[in-house]
Amino acid sequence: MSTAVTERPGPTPATTVPMLEVKDLVVRYGRGRRAATAPAAVDRVSFSIAPGETVGLVGESGSGKSTIGKAILGLQKVSGGTINYQGRDITSATAAQRRDLGGELRAVFQDPNSSLNPRNTIGTSLAEPLRLRGIAAAEARVKAGDMLERVGLPREAVDRYPSQFSGGQRQRISVARALICDPQLVVCDEAVSALDLSTQAQVLNLLADLRDERGLSYLFIAHDIAVVQFLAQRVVVLYRGQVMESGPAAAVTGNPRHPFTQALVAASPVPRPAEQAARREARESLGVRTGAAAVPAPGGCPFRLRCPLATDLCATERPALRRVGTADVACHYA
Ligand SMILES: Nc1ncnc2c1ncn2[C@@H]1O[C@H](COP(=O)(O)OP(=O)(O)O)[C@@H](O)[C@H]1O
Ligand code: SF4
Ligand SMILES: [Mg+2]
Repeated sequence: MSTAVTERPGPTPATTVPMLEVKDLVVRYGRGRRAATAPAAVDRVSFSIAPGETVGLVGESGSGKSTIGKAILGLQKVSGGTINYQGRDITSATAAQRRDLGGELRAVFQDPNSSLNPRNTIGTSLAEPLRLRGIAAAEARVKAGDMLERVGLPREAVDRYPSQFSGGQRQRISVARALICDPQLVVCDEAVSALDLSTQAQVLNLLADLRDERGLSYLFIAHDIAVVQFLAQRVVVLYRGQVMESGPAAAVTGNPRHPFTQALVAASPVPRPAEQAARREARESLGVRTGAAAVPAPGGCPFRLRCPLATDLCATERPALRRVGTADVACHYA
């Protein structure tokens, strides 16, 4: 990503009650007895987000990132562990109970169509969360116009339809809709992944500006570690539903200790060909096998079938997260 040189990870927040605390989260898909025996899509994941902090969640496709986001938003049933939001246990809160959280917890997804109904005007889509909170139509329309201007679009956009905008503009509108009720935590799931590099940089800067203005917390989910690095103060690296490494963004992305994080950093696309070649060489010298290796049997390190350092111990014992430098790393040999 071309913007990695001007990262904007924001100030280190004062630690008070965490905005969000996820503890030993387990999610298994399937119903009834099948759910009990299904492999965990999310397997004992813990992290917290301080007020005003951005935590990046990164991993390959299928690693469980969206599942974690959905569990936090109440869109996916949790099989184990707890989710606390501003000190309140919301692990199994119903949809109505979550609505009572008001506009505090919102999301921006990769596909703007998931939050913008193509048959509704932008004004209707933006006003909807306000109307649900009892705000009168006229006032909601004014607020929608204000919010559109704030994300860099003209007020007149309220009368247009999503199809009349580019992908980048639609994503700005999704951001406007997510923020219109003044949330405190926003889950951004691959929010810029479908955009070209320069549009990606614009939307990332917009997210950073809004965070700095409003003291927002983000859970910023992406498969590209360079995109995550741009916004996040802390980074959590997932592999097959398990945390491989987590810690300050500078440590995890600048000096990765886990073989999988090292491979992710080496695989992250960079716009300069010379650097790309150097990265490719570094990646090859790591000896990490690419692609979907065979699914490892349960137990042991989930990364062992792709890991150049794997030993017999890695097949029998799941490595616990332990402190290495300033990060926590789940590897017997980090
Ligand atoms: N609705 C579902 N039903 C069954 N399995 C699912 C469902 N959604 C996701 N999964 C599985 O859960 C795992 C994690 O998926 P997901 O959270 O979407 O990963 P990511 O967002 O990191 O790509 C994958 O193995 C995926 O196949
Ligand atoms: S625990 Fe073993 S298999 Fe897992 S990352 Fe470390 S060395 Fe590789
Ligand atoms: Mg996903």
